This record gives sequence, structure tokens and C-alpha cells, in this order.
Amino acid sequence: MTRTPVNVTVTGAAGQIGYALLFRIASGQLLGADVPVKLRLLEIPQGLKAAEGTAMELDDCAFPLLRGIDITDDPNVAFAGANVALLVGARPRTKGMERGDLLEANGGIFKPQGKAINDHAADDIKVLVVGNPANTNALIAQAAAPDVPAERFTAMTRLDHNRAISQLAKKTGASVSDIKRLTIWGNHSATQYPDIFHAEVAGKNAAEIVNDEAWLADSFIPTVAKRGAAIIEARGASSAASAANAAIDHVHTWVNGTAEGDWTSMGIPSDGSYGVPEGLISSFPVTCKDGKYEIVQGLEINEFSRGRIDASVQELVEERDAVRGLGLI
Ligand code: NAD
Ligand code: LMR
Repeated sequence: MTRTPVNVTVTGAAGQIGYALLFRIASGQLLGADVPVKLRLLEIPQGLKAAEGTAMELDDCAFPLLRGIDITDDPNVAFAGANVALLVGARPRTKGMERGDLLEANGGIFKPQGKAINDHAADDIKVLVVGNPANTNALIAQAAAPDVPAERFTAMTRLDHNRAISQLAKKTGASVSDIKRLTIWGNHSATQYPDIFHAEVAGKNAAEIVNDEAWLADSFIPTVAKRGAAIIEARGASSAASAANAAIDHVHTWVNGTAEGDWTSMGIPSDGSYGVPEGLISSFPVTCKDGKYEIVQGLEINEFSRGRIDASVQELVEERDAVRGLGLI
């Protein structure tokens, strides 16, 4: 049976994450080895030539699942009929830029993109925002798309989730595939909270196995939360292949589901669960099934976790209030 190709729009396609991402999408790793895809690459005018070069390379791979590549600098064209949108392109913070300036500059990108998604995307559109500040950029795009169900707008904390799994595996000597039910709460920023209290290592409670609150507070949490900055320091550029890998994981899990007995972390509009104000795009533990996600309910939050979740959520509240003050939502 011939399947209709899925339209996947990638913004910032000529950037470093775009370069690490597009070949994996075209090879079938985003949606499945039997799902044909059409790529729509959105760039700013200065990025179009480089995007054309990447498209030439994609052609040269002769991927059987790749059914077409369109390149444009017009969001209305890029999101027309889009089923999946990966919003990667963003305005990086430059020297002397205050946080408000950064939010405003990104508002100028994510508001029109949200509107273009609202007006032109397919009814089943799923959006992942990667470009930083990812949670608040997702909120801006979502607010500009009132006709799209809010839950279709998500922000990426899967890279943090994967980082935390890897650090916990190292500490416990387990293999990464033995680690389950880890959670990233809050913002994709240094305030995020990687929570191992409900995590399992080969079926046993991770916090009990580790049994070392000092390691948790002084090593594990800061290592995961500041990993992005450590990569920038080491590479002279922000994470790219690992970020692209996490974007693939995020969408693949959303579409194809979480494994039985496990969950993942996604930045999603809060429904008020765990005391996170409704509407904020915050990271939660979620299970996915049939293309939908649900927040894992009923987890007991201890005092150690509560303070850290609240601090990250407070940062999201401040970011939301700042973009509200700028008229972006
Ligand atoms: P990059 O600078 O290499 O590429 C960004 C690309 O976006 C550029 O080609 C630029 O021309 C393009 N762009 C800018 N404005 C655009 C617009 N309005 N429409 C379309 N394209 C536009 O950056 P990168 O390394 O690929 O990173 C992209 C973003 O992802 C950054 O904001 C980075 O901080 C973020 N990031 C997020 C995570 C995460 O875990 N959420 C991880 C790593 C990086
Ligand atoms: C990361 O977590 O690697 C990135 O969000 C860092 C950054 O500031 O781009």
C-alpha cells in the first residue's frame, strides 16, 4: 500500500541542528521506517543558499522515503499542510542583550510562525519548539494559534531527559536501557529539575540505589542543568547532534508511544497538575499513546523536589509575564 507522505516543516534548516536533523528525518528515524516524508525548509533569506546546499546533499543520499524538499523564507508557504513542525531557528542571545531583548527578538519569530501554523497547517499538526528560550517561544507560538488545540504545541526537554539518564547510568553502573521513569520538570534552562525519586534502575528505585543526597544536589542536578553551557564551553558552539537526536526522540515518542512501564519528559501546556499554573509550557512526566500524551498523575512530590519544581516554574511565570508585557501573548 502506498502511504501519503507526511509533511515535516523544519525552521532554521541551514543551522547546525538543522544539518544534524534533516538526514535523520529523511531516513525515516523521525516517524518510522515505513513513513514517507516531504520536507519543507524555512530559513531567513541569508540562510536560503546554505539550505539549498543541504537539499542537494539530501538528494544525493537517495533516501527512499524522501518524497520532496521545498525551501522558502515565507512561513505561510513553509507551514502549508504541515503535519509536523520542528521550530529550530531562533535568535541567539548576543553580547549586551538583556533577557527582555531576547524574548522580544524571539517573539518577532515565533508569533508570526504560530499565526502561519494557525492559518495553514494540517488539522493534525504537532509542533516541537527547539529554539531557545524553548518553553516561552512555544508559548508565544501557541498563543498566536487560537484555532489549533493548545496541546499540539510542545517544547523540547528530551535532551535534558537523555542527559539525566546518561549521568544516572554512569553513577549506578547500569546501562542506559535499564533506566526508566526519569522526569525533567520545569523550564529548559539552568533552573530545570531532573528528578530521580520516581526513576528506576533495573526495576529498583533510583534514589534508594544512589542514596546520596549530596551527589544529587551538588553533582547530578547541576551537571544536567548546566550541560548546555558546558557543551558551549567545550565545543565553542551549542549542542547540535545531541539536540537533533533529542528532537527525533521527542517526536518519535509522541507519535509512536512510550514503552510499557516507562515515561518521558516533554514541555507541554500545563493543565494545573502538580501545582504548575495552567497554560504555562512546562516539562512534565508524560506517557504517549496513539499520537497523544498524558501527564503521569499521582506522583508523590517530596520537599526536596517541591522547592526545585517551584523555582523552575517561577522562572517560567516570569518569562510569561515578560512576554505578556511585551504584547507577545
Ligand atoms: P544556528 O545558529 O546554527 O542555526 C539557527 C538557524 O536558524 C540559522 O540558520 C538562522 O538563519 C535560522 N533562523 C533564524 N531566524 C529564523 C527564522 N525567523 N525563520 C527561519 N529560520 C531562522 O543554531 P542551532 O545551533 O541550530 O540552534 C538553534 C536553536 O536551538 C538555538 O536557539 C539553540 O539555543 C536551541 N537549542 C535548544 C536545545 C534544547 O534542548 N531545547 C538544545 C540545543 C540548542
Ligand atoms: C542546550 O541545552 O544544549 C542548549 O539549550 C544550550 C543553548 O543555550 O543553546
